[in-house]
Amino acid sequence: MSANRPAAVVVLAAGEGTRMKSKTPKVLHEIAGRSLVGHVVSAARELEPEHLVVVVGHAREQVKGHLEAHYAGTRTAVQEEQNGTGHAVRMALEELGQAPDGTVVVVCGDTPLLSGETLKALAGTHAADGNAVTVLTAEVPDSTGYGRIVRDASGAVTEIVEHKDASAEQLAIREINSGVFAFDGKLLAEALGKVRTDNSQGEEYLTDVLSILREAGHRVGASIAGDHREILGINNRVQLAEARALLNQRLLERAMMAGVTVVDPASVFVDVTVTFEADAIVLPGTQLLGATHIAEDAVVGPNSRLKDTRVGKGARVDNTVSDTAVVGEGASVGPYAYLRPGTNLGAKAKAGTYVEMKNATIGEGTKVPHLSYVGDATIGEYTNIGAASVFVNYDGEAKHHTTVGSHCKTGSDNMFVAPVTIGDGAYTAAGSVITKDVPAGALAVARGQQRNIEGWVARKRPGSAAAQAAQVASGDSASES
Ligand code: UD1
Ligand code: CA
Repeated sequence: MSANRPAAVVVLAAGEGTRMKSKTPKVLHEIAGRSLVGHVVSAARELEPEHLVVVVGHAREQVKGHLEAHYAGTRTAVQEEQNGTGHAVRMALEELGQAPDGTVVVVCGDTPLLSGETLKALAGTHAADGNAVTVLTAEVPDSTGYGRIVRDASGAVTEIVEHKDASAEQLAIREINSGVFAFDGKLLAEALGKVRTDNSQGEEYLTDVLSILREAGHRVGASIAGDHREILGINNRVQLAEARALLNQRLLERAMMAGVTVVDPASVFVDVTVTFEADAIVLPGTQLLGATHIAEDAVVGPNSRLKDTRVGKGARVDNTVSDTAVVGEGASVGPYAYLRPGTNLGAKAKAGTYVEMKNATIGEGTKVPHLSYVGDATIGEYTNIGAASVFVNYDGEAKHHTTVGSHCKTGSDNMFVAPVTIGDGAYTAAGSVITKDVPAGALAVARGQQRNIEGWVARKRPGSAAAQAAQVASGDSASES
């Protein structure tokens, strides 16, 4: 498909990331539901390279395991010691066996905001200009720490100088090296052999390849990123939060441009994997995670956290926590509901206030409006479950299933002791502990008979406020005289 399909993309991810101060390797930290290296690999994949090689070093088993689990088809190259970005690329080329015939794109594993479009544009410029190397640069407000792009009087790039090696004059340059390059594979391999380590860090700098190629008479180019925020590299948790905010903003803007109303983008967080239909509405304080999907005219929030949840057309989800659930068209959830894995609410069904559900299939139009727990259950259509009911699914050892039919009306404060089945159209009395199956159309009453012991308060609690109130109520005013 892509005309500028590279022979290989190399992702540099061997560094430790000490400034994160974390037991987790830097590239495995997450923003918007994806690891930093995962974002880079996803962008790299848009180039459809023949080979995608991630250079690993620090915590390599963990990083490798993560890539194998989530990004099948990526190869890893091991860099035993972190001797610099040039050395890291050399390890990647060794892993490939021979210098690739074609373009090699190099990106850093800690720049999660880099988009596939930007990489494609870079590869496009590289091919169109017939360059030996094209570096992606950016003008940044603060160039501290970055390699500076040095240009000659004609504006041609001559070299990249690392911050630590730069002169006072070079430090003032605001155009910086993003760390992203497109190379001619063969020329890259040749030039890497000539990179020296006589710099302040004693490392093999990938950036030196640029001046080496230029001095050998090859074409060297630069492509300036349209948005410098894309090349933000994460070195610490402040930058991690900054990147998360920028990515979140990008994802919400994309959703809004596609017709989603986001009332307060500053308080809504979404993962990259979340999808919406036009005219979905997201209210403040809401987190949408994983494979969550919000359909047309659905209203989600405020203050809700939905993970891997499908919300149907026109449904209403208010102040809810949900994980791995399906909310049918026009269904209503909350306020203050908790949907746990395996909840499947049918169209126009309701899981109301202080209702928890787990592994429960609720039929069309069925309502569980108040203060109830529905676990391991199947309920038919247009049934009403009375307030404060519990599906007693656990006997201390195993979980059991409850089945309730269609068009049932169960009383308030019922316990359904599973396994138990309530037939279609059945009723149950309030306060019942249902331990036996109820036939279709029956009324089940499973509670103690009420017994009133007349005059008990006067005899047992004489002189109490209760006794006096009872006396007044009985119309006997003898004690008032
Ligand atoms: C590098 C560039 C600098 C650029 C900046 C952009 C060099 C010499 N410098 O600097 O010009 O402005 O990125 O963010 O290339 N890595 C390895 N193995 C190593 C060293 C690094 O895999 O031996 C990986 C790191 O894990 C990281 C990436 O390469 O993902 C960049 O390394 P880092 O040390 O952060 O380079 P910078 O000093 O930021
Ligand atoms: Ca860096």
